[in-house]
Amino acid sequence: MAIYPLLQFPDPLLNRPGKTVTVFDENLKEIVSNMFETHYAQENCAALAATQLGIEMKITVIDFSDMKNQPLCLINPEIIEKSGSHQEEEGCMSVSGVSAKITRASRIKIKYQDITGQEQQMSAEGFMAKCIQHEIDHLNGVLYLERLNHLKRKMLEMKILKLKIKKKS
Ligand code: NI
Repeated sequence: MAIYPLLQFPDPLLNRPGKTVTVFDENLKEIVSNMFETHYAQENCAALAATQLGIEMKITVIDFSDMKNQPLCLINPEIIEKSGSHQEEEGCMSVSGVSAKITRASRIKIKYQDITGQEQQMSAEGFMAKCIQHEIDHLNGVLYLERLNHLKRKMLEMKILKLKIKKKS
């Protein structure tokens, strides 16, 4: 078991997309279990994508239950249906100290593979739908900041920079 370091914006590795997982072996199980350990070691963490941990693979681990006992691991997730539109405040473990309103589909259907490589499908709405869309973005090398308009994004980036300087001094 190990806790992976969590990359922080503006680390360029956050923009490197994950590769499709094709081998479902013991090594993959180890990575997923380390990802969950890393997730549970963070405060207020809903989900983590492998790309936030410098791992170039399409894997995300999700658990936002109070008891941290509802782990969901999505491998190679893809949205196959979406509907509705919903705007809600969003934050990210890799962009600490700030948040912004992001518009996303309110209902989605995805396909993914489980830890054994078995294809699965699932429908989601509410917080789970938002969470999965945020994570799939991560796996494509996209941060929620990139979904904001230019001005809003620049303002938020300046705020992040200021927070970083404050932290150092
Ligand atoms: Ni995130």
